[in-house]
Amino acid sequence: MNAKRKIIIDCDPGIDDTLALMLALSSPELEVIGITVVCGNVPTDIGAENALKVLKFMGRLDIPVYCGEEAPLKRDYISAQDTHGMDGLGESNYPAVTETRAKKDAVNFLINTLKTQKNVSIIAVGPLTNIAKALQKNREVFKNLDEFISMGGSFKSHGNCSPVAEYNYWCDPDAARYVYENLPKKIHMVGLDVTRKIVLTPNILEYMQILDKEKGGFIKKITRFYYDFHWKYERVIGCVINDPLAVAYFINRELCSGFDSYTTVETEGISIGQSVTDSMDFWKKEPNSHVLTEVNQKEFMTMFLNRVFGEDEQEIRKILLQIM
Ligand code: BDR
Ligand code: CA
Repeated sequence: MNAKRKIIIDCDPGIDDTLALMLALSSPELEVIGITVVCGNVPTDIGAENALKVLKFMGRLDIPVYCGEEAPLKRDYISAQDTHGMDGLGESNYPAVTETRAKKDAVNFLINTLKTQKNVSIIAVGPLTNIAKALQKNREVFKNLDEFISMGGSFKSHGNCSPVAEYNYWCDPDAARYVYENLPKKIHMVGLDVTRKIVLTPNILEYMQILDKEKGGFIKKITRFYYDFHWKYERVIGCVINDPLAVAYFINRELCSGFDSYTTVETEGISIGQSVTDSMDFWKKEPNSHVLTEVNQKEFMTMFLNRVFGEDEQEIRKILLQIM
């Protein structure tokens, strides 16, 4: 068997971040060497507490959690607690973890890890503030980075917090821009064009309960609030789960397709936070991103259910034929 790929998950848990963590922790190809938390869906301390709750639920409290930046680079911080609940886990109010605590200084953890370890990739599923800060402090170490995946932005799809902007880039547009313009590696942009198509429907949630009452129950509990939000504001029955697609795509490139192009992010005005991809090459700039446009939703869901619930892939495909 090939060696496991080492990853750091930079996140703001967050309901869908939690699902991304569950998928990563259940995937034998991955070694999660650390979780860094940034302010986004919830303030950093709440996000770090949630990361620990997920680790405890998955029996992986051995993985270190680091608290990162508590405010965007320049803008005032605006959380997404209207979407994820005040506790960030859909008002599920799971008790705080007492066995261990989150450490400080995610930015230095990122820099030191890249300095001392080879073949580390980062999957970023929150605003890019921690990454931008680390990059500003030490760009050189990012040359050692294996791959960089960012859930954020959108190419043609409408935004989810303004007509054109996706939350992670809108929350800290200056960080997002800085990362796109300075990272010495290509950014795989897993944006709303593809993640919007990943909907956790009531039928799939029901299927999860059948597969495993405990894990299914956990996911049901944390997504209830998210369901209500999606129905109220988007008339979607179910909820869009963006972040686990970034992990799934990292594991299997065949789940999504896209194209290489130059991308940057607007930092001012009515389009603040919008990702701008020069798909027609007006600017004649070297591509800095691989922008995803298509996704195979059924195969994503098959992977998620197989990894997290341990069900056989062929069995899952048969059931998904009925319910997807
Ligand atoms: C992104 O914003 C957050 O609310 C989600 O966790 C996801 O990372 C989607 O726009
Ligand atoms: Ca997130």
